[in-house]
Amino acid sequence: MPRASTVFVCSSCGAESAKWRGQCPDCGNWNTLAEEARGPAKAPKAATRAVKPVPLRQVEAVRYTRLATGIGELDRVLGGGLVPGSLVLIGGSPGIGKSTLTSMALGNLQADGRRTLYVSGEESAAQIRLRAERLPGAALDVPVLAETDLDTVLATLDAERPEVCVIDSVQTLHAGDLTGAAGSVGQVREVADRITRLAKQRGIAVLLVGHVTKEGALAGPRVLEHLVDAVLQFEGERERTYRTLRALKNRFGSTNDVGVFEMQTSGLVEVADASARFVAEATRAPGSVVLAAMEGSRPLLVEVQALVSPSEIVPPRRVANGIDRNRLALVLAVLGRHAGIGAGAADVFVNVAGGVKIEEPGADLAVALAVASATRGVTMGEQTPIACFGEIGLTGELRSVGHPERRLAEAQKFGLADVIAPSQRTSTLRQAVRQALGSTPKTQAA
Ligand code: TYD
Ligand code: MG
Repeated sequence: MPRASTVFVCSSCGAESAKWRGQCPDCGNWNTLAEEARGPAKAPKAATRAVKPVPLRQVEAVRYTRLATGIGELDRVLGGGLVPGSLVLIGGSPGIGKSTLTSMALGNLQADGRRTLYVSGEESAAQIRLRAERLPGAALDVPVLAETDLDTVLATLDAERPEVCVIDSVQTLHAGDLTGAAGSVGQVREVADRITRLAKQRGIAVLLVGHVTKEGALAGPRVLEHLVDAVLQFEGERERTYRTLRALKNRFGSTNDVGVFEMQTSGLVEVADASARFVAEATRAPGSVVLAAMEGSRPLLVEVQALVSPSEIVPPRRVANGIDRNRLALVLAVLGRHAGIGAGAADVFVNVAGGVKIEEPGADLAVALAVASATRGVTMGEQTPIACFGEIGLTGELRSVGHPERRLAEAQKFGLADVIAPSQRTSTLRQAVRQALGSTPKTQAA
């Protein structure tokens, strides 16, 4: 009997090899080859007929009605709800709230009269029930299957034909015909591939939960991203209550939207008024400004604070928390030399609120504006705090930084209308300071 053949695929570059090797012959990485199933080799077909391509205009396009999960922030990030037959991967580190979010979504859909199914390879049905008891809505009415065998899961899906299904998690399912352990690259790929095929056939919308590995990749480098229709990233610190949900890829919507949640005792609560909270948490005092930063590919708003006070010691203190000390020295020098705001013999303290660390050039302008406003004793921004970003050059010019549109979008999302950033109108630090502090500086020119 011809056995389904397997190949060894490199998890970092995707190169294939007929036999296992310790080192990938293509990219040279070690221990990255994992076994993967290949269907039986196809016999060349002699009589394959050509197909006549049709113009797009004549293609019949089905207009899907989206399934609203009832969680506003999730629906928005999805682009208006779940598309039937689509596969959505939700990634995040353990404990972030993936199971909570997906349980709540299924509960809402079930209450809406949709057929749902929650497949868990991580927890027992009893554990899932205990969680569901804490959650609002109809979470307890959702049918559940605690199972790790892929074939059983697929057979159950085929028999039950739910409209929406959660697989929690893709790493815990195991395909019996592959030798690798559950969670290995080959297994994850196979599991996702077979679920995708069934989901497309039967029109089941699948929420695939995936753990993020230490390197921050979803189930191994990029192995699933091309396969699924959307990739959502659930992020946040476990100690903090805020969590953000964003789309890294979305075939049915944009990837600029971000959903904000707060973990409470009764599950995840949407933070729809995040803008109001950010505005409320920023101190709105002289020396405070909001920085629209990028953390990798993720925009993040943080408050940068500065305090400038007369010093009793020589040389005066320069204390930086959350930003590079050398960068602070540079910004102070440029402020004094090119913007007419010298810290002179004063102590300067700069702090990124919330213990956040910012390691990107875009923070320069926030540091400069915070120090300028602290020095002058002027509060920036009228109704809302001012947001800013930009790198500062040694000649006093403002230099553009990556992803300006994402930073702007993030500031706007959180209700910060005044954003000072490198532009034609604002090309120097002096102009930026003048804009931020209003009419106060003496150097008011045309
Ligand atoms: P969970 O959804 O299990 O995370 P994940 O599936 O991503 O690993 O839940 C994460 C944490 O949230 C867990 O430590 C307990 C906490 N939690 C609450 O604080 N309130 C709740 O209502 C629930 C259900 C969980
Ligand atoms: Mg979980």
